[in-house]
Amino acid sequence: MELQVLPLEKKKPLIEDESQLYFGKQFTDRMFVMQYKTGLGWHDARIQPYQSFSLDPAAMVLHYAQEIFEGLKAFRRPDGQIALFRPKDNFRRFNHGARRMCMPEVDEAFMLKSLKKLIQLEADWVPRSEGTSLYIRPALIASEPMLGVRPDDEYLCFIILCPVGAYYKGGLAPVKIWISDHYVRAAHGGTGEVKTGGNYAASLYAAREAAEKGYDQVLWLDAREKKYVEEVGSMNICFVENNKLVTSPLHGTILDGITRRSVLELARYNGLEIEERALSVAEIFGGVEEGRITEAFGTGTAVVISPVGQFTYQGRTVVLGDGKTTGAVTQELYDTLTGIQYGRLPDPHGWVELL
Ligand code: COI
Repeated sequence: MELQVLPLEKKKPLIEDESQLYFGKQFTDRMFVMQYKTGLGWHDARIQPYQSFSLDPAAMVLHYAQEIFEGLKAFRRPDGQIALFRPKDNFRRFNHGARRMCMPEVDEAFMLKSLKKLIQLEADWVPRSEGTSLYIRPALIASEPMLGVRPDDEYLCFIILCPVGAYYKGGLAPVKIWISDHYVRAAHGGTGEVKTGGNYAASLYAAREAAEKGYDQVLWLDAREKKYVEEVGSMNICFVENNKLVTSPLHGTILDGITRRSVLELARYNGLEIEERALSVAEIFGGVEEGRITEAFGTGTAVVISPVGQFTYQGRTVVLGDGKTTGAVTQELYDTLTGIQYGRLPDPHGWVELL
């Protein structure tokens, strides 16, 4: 398929003061779009000015949420070059999600080529200051007007770009986590491992309740026994137990996070033992109280690594360290991962793709 580049008539002013970059609020001048129709396949791939879509009010995505999305980042390196971090992994996961949501798969190599072209055109928007990056949001939505419940016949795939600062205003400051004994995020056989909007919409109610109680995030337990750790908010979660990194296994209910994968690979490379296994709330509380579990942190593309300061469950709280300081293992993993992403450290794993 050919990629058309449409003219851009008007440019928005760049954000000169990068301390004014917020997550997900400012978008660049251009976007990538392509369309799909059953019988015709993917067509009309183009880079065009960033603009609103005109969608029929009966478009399937608006009613039955047939949609998926991705999140990845481009980083400005000290020499000015721009690097993508593991973009092939994102497009592979995009197609995995497309299959699960009965949507047409995309050509991964074509998506990557189009993304690179888009970023080259928008290169001025890739910020330069410490901790900033260009957040990339590919998405696929069902666009045909149809109120019957069945896989749609028309889709829109698009990529938008967003220069960002830190996801949390507090940066790497440890967060307070509320463990819900009531709400669950995903059940076996459901869509928990898919990056689909419904999972995120369904998490809002519990997140609001947590915020009202003064917590930053919700820790989700498994739906079957409400006993085992799954994810935190929209992040995977890892625990440092003695010289091991312990995290929930990928069994269909949690996202196969690319930051999670990178952190596990880095930790293994640095000589830490990795355990992907079910970890119960009782084990976390016992482990922290007895000094075996010393650190915990969430991982995700948007947040990178987010240290946990405390967990509260059914009125009982455990504090990791002093609850305010990032632990040494977490800090080391953060420094190594961001060092590779920003080009301050070598990339022995072949994760970085220069533009
Ligand atoms: C990401 O970490 O990239 C995500 O997609 C999470 C989102 C809720 C910001």
